[in-house]
Amino acid sequence: MIPTLEAVAVGTTFADAGGGRIAALDQVDACFLPGQLSVIVGPSGSGKSTLLHALAGIVVPDAGRILFGSTDLSTLNEGQRDAWRLTHCGMVFQDFRLIDELDALANTLLPAQFTRLRTPAALRQRAQLLLAEFGVPARSGPVARLSRGEQQRVALARALLLDPPVVLADEATASLDADNGQRIAHALLAVARAGKTVIAVTHDDRLSALADQRLMLKTGRVVTPEVHRA
Ligand SMILES: Nc1ncnc2c1ncn2[C@@H]1O[C@H](COP(=O)(O)OP(=O)(O)OP(=O)(O)O)[C@@H](O)[C@H]1O
Ligand SMILES: [Mg+2]
Repeated sequence: MIPTLEAVAVGTTFADAGGGRIAALDQVDACFLPGQLSVIVGPSGSGKSTLLHALAGIVVPDAGRILFGSTDLSTLNEGQRDAWRLTHCGMVFQDFRLIDELDALANTLLPAQFTRLRTPAALRQRAQLLLAEFGVPARSGPVARLSRGEQQRVALARALLLDPPVVLADEATASLDADNGQRIAHALLAVARAGKTVIAVTHDDRLSALADQRLMLKTGRVVTPEVHRA
């Protein structure tokens, strides 16, 4: 059973150019259940990516805690957080973070280098299936030559490769046309329905409409109460 992922009174500040601190997250409480698709919405700069990065253990909050069951991410050191993320989180970054020179399949297979749990052949087959499901053209060549929408779908295939219990997607449909956006939104919902915890930052109403929970941030604060659909 996948534990609940929780943010408890999370606060994060960043240094600003003038030597002061700006609060990116302020007293954020949130609870993400396995089997559910949650979306995080809000204006640009409201802290959505920062919250996603805090939930993945990439950003360490200055205040509060990130809990995954009995694991308190805030007490882990960087190496422990990296290890936790590798085995628990699939992440689609807002800027994709693909390796430009590698092709779609090689990018999708990148997490395979860090696991011995499955055979290379099985992972290769899964990578090919995911890319086909998301409609990424099978031709090889550096991903730098793919469209942004195609790159975005490669990033999602990579995030799902190891079938992680938690999937965090930052604007995963932002570069997609209506058909592909719909396809990816439904793919994220299917991952949730398969029992995973799926959290998507989005401006996309198609994705929001499918969500079990919608969390709105404004200037680093949660402004809507959480609603869990039955
Ligand atoms: N590494 C950083 N250093 C300094 N300030 C940062 C850093 N990351 C984020 N911030 C600031 O924190 C605030 C929240 O940023 P964040 O990227 O989380 O917003 P967002 O809601 O994801 O915005 P967008 O919709 O534009 O992606 C912003 O004011 C941003 O400038
Ligand atoms: Mg962002």
